[in-house]
Amino acid sequence: MAHSTTIATIMFFTFFLLFSSSTFAKTHYHDFVVQETKVTRLCKTRTSITVNGQLPGPTLEINNGDSLVIKVVNKAKYNVTIHWHGVRQMRTAWADGPEFITQCPIRPGGSYTYRFMITGQEGTLWWHAHSSWLRATVYGAIIIHPKEGGSYPFAKPNRESVVVLGEWWNANPIDVIRQATQTGGAPNVSDAYTINGQPGDLYKCSKKDTVVVPLGSGETSLIRVINAALNQQLFFTIANHKLTVVGADASYVKPFTTSVLMLGPGQTTDVLIKGDQSPGQYYIAARAYASAQGAPFDNTTTTAILNYQTAPNGSNPIMPNLPAFNDTKTATAFTTSFRSPGKTLVPTTIDENLFITAGLGINQCPPNAKNSTCQAPNRTRFTASMNNVSFVLPSNYSLLQAHHQGIPGVFTTDFPARPPVSFDYTGNVSRSLWQPIRGTKVYKLKYGARVQVVLQGTSIFTAENHPIHLHGYDFYIVAEGFGNFNPKTDTAKFNLVDPPLRNTVSLPVKGWAVIRFVADNPGTWIMHCHLDVHIGWGLAMVFVVDNGVGQLETLERPPEDLPVC
Ligand code: C2O
Repeated sequence: MAHSTTIATIMFFTFFLLFSSSTFAKTHYHDFVVQETKVTRLCKTRTSITVNGQLPGPTLEINNGDSLVIKVVNKAKYNVTIHWHGVRQMRTAWADGPEFITQCPIRPGGSYTYRFMITGQEGTLWWHAHSSWLRATVYGAIIIHPKEGGSYPFAKPNRESVVVLGEWWNANPIDVIRQATQTGGAPNVSDAYTINGQPGDLYKCSKKDTVVVPLGSGETSLIRVINAALNQQLFFTIANHKLTVVGADASYVKPFTTSVLMLGPGQTTDVLIKGDQSPGQYYIAARAYASAQGAPFDNTTTTAILNYQTAPNGSNPIMPNLPAFNDTKTATAFTTSFRSPGKTLVPTTIDENLFITAGLGINQCPPNAKNSTCQAPNRTRFTASMNNVSFVLPSNYSLLQAHHQGIPGVFTTDFPARPPVSFDYTGNVSRSLWQPIRGTKVYKLKYGARVQVVLQGTSIFTAENHPIHLHGYDFYIVAEGFGNFNPKTDTAKFNLVDPPLRNTVSLPVKGWAVIRFVADNPGTWIMHCHLDVHIGWGLAMVFVVDNGVGQLETLERPPEDLPVC
């Protein structure tokens, strides 16, 4: 009797353990129809490419541990792919999305279903088109709540809001980049920044659509800030309210308080605010952090209104101060405040130590080319590179297909682990070093390799801050600094205890940053500057990570409906 009770009890608990996690984890199904939509901003109406007619596109709201199945139907006239920015995509590189890296584009009239799981990530990510400049209007938020039954590592906020920062052109962004590609010059800057798709009170014809973010007196609100702008790092602030940073790029951080955030395109920051001011209206505002000296940028300011529910009617919102456009000191004070909540698993032994320069370049104009195709300064064309290689996308196969099926001639494996010549990277760089070579070069990593990358900015043509994003991984940022990285003195500054975990690092202007990760996700993973203007110029490289041992360390089979080129 006692014996069978024990067995029954054991069976009950085994059953409970087996199914408790799987019953809670859900699969979410969505249809994303990429389509032409008439959108009116700044007194003008133009056709935009949107998802489901929405700008921003639909928000995906899920729990850590859930799966997503998203069928993307392309009813627009451009090739498109969707990237789930920051999602680790463990063994599902086929669903990552960058065009010609992990898939061929979805042609007009075609479709593709992305299937992937969220594992171990909580906070805020986002999704966006990864094809030409389509992401200017094809983007949306991904909200990842704690595991079902779990909780935040801070008191549950009374409410939550999403603030997606974007960038708007009156012209069709695809035409803007096409024109720049023809002329070789820099593309036109945007006409507005936006919050949840709306420019806000300070722009013409925009006031009535300004976004309102509600707050109750005495309440705490979690605000998820995403920089989805195409080409601009942004400062962000809220008048009279302190911002307590609790997360970034879907990882929690040790909370710290600030009055201003700086986000590069690709980055997210979760902040808590308290309704501790007199009931009223306060502007939420964002404008450029523009670090390149003399380069043109959009100097406008986007706003939304933080509205206390008990605010008296007709009050004028209070405007905050924003840092000066070139305030690198404030940007740096912010980016260097990040710590993980506790001791991390940052690798301390390194198998692969890379030193990668990142910066602009200039191509000489071929002798008989028309002047109209060489509109960068002194009859040249702009370019960009990592370790002097200007990255060229393949066109017949995706890199992942070529790698998986062993198709030769699509890429070469000779991306250099350090620059071909060393020079004073952040000094006055000799003109003879301004012109990179072109290539589809990858760097191979064994499964499980512990990798360190020293990212070194250059002053070629001009120095600027670059938001460097790695697909398929979160990495630890162990240090950053200005000038040329010096292994003798700078290694001592590494934080190997509680460095922050991110998917995008803000590479300081005329400076360096050191990141570390373990290559535990097989696939082809692009690392690139998240300023779209720089991707087109070739500021990218690709890691090819081999399979490990057994199924759990092996890339899944390609889906049946994977688009062909
Ligand atoms: Cu948001 Cu290739 O990235």
